[in-house]
Amino acid sequence: MPPVLRATGLTKVFGPREQEALRLAGEGVGRDDVLRRTGCTLAVHDVGFAVERGELFVVMGLSGSGKSTLVRLLNRIVEPSAGTVEVDGQDLRALSDADLRNLRNERVSMVFQHFALLPHRSVRENAAYALKVRGVPAAEQRERADWALRTVGLLDRADARPDQLSGGMQQRVGLARALAADSDVLLMDEPFSALDPLIRRDMQDLLVQLQTELHKTIVFITHDLNEAMRLGDRILMLKDGRTVQLGTGPEIISAPADEYVADFTSDVDRTRVLTAGDLLREPRMTARLGQSTGEVLRTLGAAEANGVYVLDDGQRIAGVARDDLLARAVQEGRTAVGARELVADYATIAPDRPLVEFIHLVGKHAVPLGVVDGSGRLLGVVPRAAVLDALAAVPARREG
Ligand SMILES: Nc1ncnc2c1ncn2[C@@H]1O[C@H](COP(=O)(O)OP(=O)(O)OP(=O)(O)O)[C@@H](O)[C@H]1O
Ligand SMILES: [Mg+2]
Repeated sequence: MPPVLRATGLTKVFGPREQEALRLAGEGVGRDDVLRRTGCTLAVHDVGFAVERGELFVVMGLSGSGKSTLVRLLNRIVEPSAGTVEVDGQDLRALSDADLRNLRNERVSMVFQHFALLPHRSVRENAAYALKVRGVPAAEQRERADWALRTVGLLDRADARPDQLSGGMQQRVGLARALAADSDVLLMDEPFSALDPLIRRDMQDLLVQLQTELHKTIVFITHDLNEAMRLGDRILMLKDGRTVQLGTGPEIISAPADEYVADFTSDVDRTRVLTAGDLLREPRMTARLGQSTGEVLRTLGAAEANGVYVLDDGQRIAGVARDDLLARAVQEGRTAVGARELVADYATIAPDRPLVEFIHLVGKHAVPLGVVDGSGRLLGVVPRAAVLDALAAVPARREG
């Protein structure tokens, strides 16, 4: 299956001498020099990526980096100077004007910055707006609008007018409108940027929660890296119209592609972005219930460790065998690791929990923090070194 959305070599030049600007850009001339020599703005240059179904893909960059241009290229509101966009494998260049209108309504639709609500229409009518424009029958409009309002927690206000709602509720109506429209891909160009911080945080939480239920395909633009980290499955970092890095939030934070990205990420609270799953490593050793006490003791000695996780047949943690208890077992002639050798000298965490929630548990026990799934199976461990490495991440060395 092709990705929902694929951009290849996407480039946009604004200005009169497009071909000349493209040629210079192709030779590696930077944006400022292209502008000086041709009077053209190289808004986006040679950007490529693929968005998978159900992914929340964030495009992030400073003001003027080309984010809005890029997102408008994705449904040909802006015509590319070079490169291609494919939706479900179909090249947008092949579409007629009518096909394109249809595409923008039903397949790749733009959610506008302030969700501009219609002041004299009810909340329900606002939520149904995109469907009405599209000519969907009234009963279906109502059904989908009500579903979307219920989803954002506002069905009980369906008959109110927007000005009777708080700012945060109005934003949720806008989000309901986007959900009701139910296009394959939602393009969201800084939808939360004008909101005050608390409402903004609420909207981010709501979007994250909706994503876990609805798995929409979303291209979300922001200039706020913390927002990008909170929302994005993957993040494309743009600088002067070019891609500087594409990866998950934890990937970008722990291995920034260059000094620019490293500078950017230095303000991010890593402890909220990195999860136990990002940090987990293969345990250096584990032991099994019933294994020879002498053997486990020797392994511990060789590894200069004080304890080891003992697992049952289902890879679940039975306990920790500590060297002092093992030594006594050997002395007293108990040859198999059993309950008497086990202590609860360990702590565990689920893989999706952020570092901020477990950093205080790291390095506190005879064994590293255990990462376990819902049934208590040991997936890996988070040694103290993994945490220190992640907190001290430095940019990747440039080639050459
Ligand atoms: N229609 C246009 N004509 C000429 N230049 C344009 C046009 N649209 C954008 N630009 C230029 O292209 C560059 C990228 O602009 P764009 O709006 O894509 O950036 P952005 O990352 O969305 O910025 P912001 O965060 O301020 O919204 C800027 O230099 C801008 O001035
Ligand atoms: Mg913009």
